[in-house]
Amino acid sequence: NRDLKAKLLEINKIAATYYYHQLKAENGKIGLSYLQKRGLSDTTINRFGLGYAGQTGNALYQYLKSKGYDDALLKETGLFTYERGIHDKFWNRVMFPIMDINNKVIGFGGRVMGDAKPKYLNSPETKLFDKSRNLYGLNAARISRKSNMIICEGYMDVISLHQAGFTQAVASLGTALTPGQAALMKRYTDNVLITYDSDAAGVKAALRAIPILKEAGLTTKVINMQPYKDPDEFIKALGAEAFQERIDKAENSFMYEIGVLEKEYDRIDPAESTKFEREAAAKLVTFREKLERENYMRAVCDRFHIELQGMRELVASLGSKE
Ligand code: CTP
Ligand code: MN
Ligand code: MN
Ligand code: MN
Ligand code: MN
Repeated sequence: NRDLKAKLLEINKIAATYYYHQLKAENGKIGLSYLQKRGLSDTTINRFGLGYAGQTGNALYQYLKSKGYDDALLKETGLFTYERGIHDKFWNRVMFPIMDINNKVIGFGGRVMGDAKPKYLNSPETKLFDKSRNLYGLNAARISRKSNMIICEGYMDVISLHQAGFTQAVASLGTALTPGQAALMKRYTDNVLITYDSDAAGVKAALRAIPILKEAGLTTKVINMQPYKDPDEFIKALGAEAFQERIDKAENSFMYEIGVLEKEYDRIDPAESTKFEREAAAKLVTFREKLERENYMRAVCDRFHIELQGMRELVASLGSKE
């Protein structure tokens, strides 16, 4: 098994180098100009080892065969498809090698250069690649325990953030954040800033990530990127200084949760308003420590214009029911 892993790492490295050279070659120009149009510098492209998978159906396969790798082994890489003959999984896409913390290539993501679907293709889980235990960009990240880690959705978000100087950014690889990823983060920092997309899917992903991060003992805040959709778009539009301001104003994750909840109710209607306050109380009662509970009660009542004494009584009554 160990031997197999070493072989797979070796092949992935060859594949990454191959894609990288394709990007610099004549027929990779389409890939290179795509990345440049998205604002990536040559330094950034090189730092992340970006590449290009060409138009031919099985060029990488032929290349690896010519190096003497056998089919059984190649099958384990996840780089090929086996319907109606053997073909490269990735073609006509810009390539993002996914590396572990030791800079070893464990998988790939590939993006189409237009609007075709699927927008991204990713390596399947292999003997090397366990999405739930890796974070994209962690190998390139600079993180200090006292400072923070930025968790975002995608490849381009991480790369744009790093290029803008936010080298503490990583991505959860499109999947919902897992406890394994949270534990990995906790090895580097105590503070996490969530910058998932500001669309419905991103908000949902953030709401699911918050308790997982909390469970791992991480202090969590949420960055508001409105009116932009993701950090890549934000930085392109407003620049690094504006993003730093958003970091400084990042919101306590509990307050963020209550804010999302509040939007579900039309509080002009007293029935809806009552429901909202009950929901908020049900969340507030989960703070076991009195001081902390009181502080959050004050903050929630203040921000959402709820009468404090009434909320105290509601929370107390919920607490005594348990
Ligand atoms: N993703 C994926 N497969 C898809 C769509 C998304 O694996 N079909 C993952 C990718 O890791 C992607 C992340 O989810 O980077 C976020 O998706 P999305 O917000 O749709 O894409 P962006 O990262 O914003 O991509 P881009 O800016 O290139 O359009
Ligand atoms: Mn063919
Ligand atoms: Mn998204
Ligand atoms: Mn996005
Ligand atoms: Mn994007």
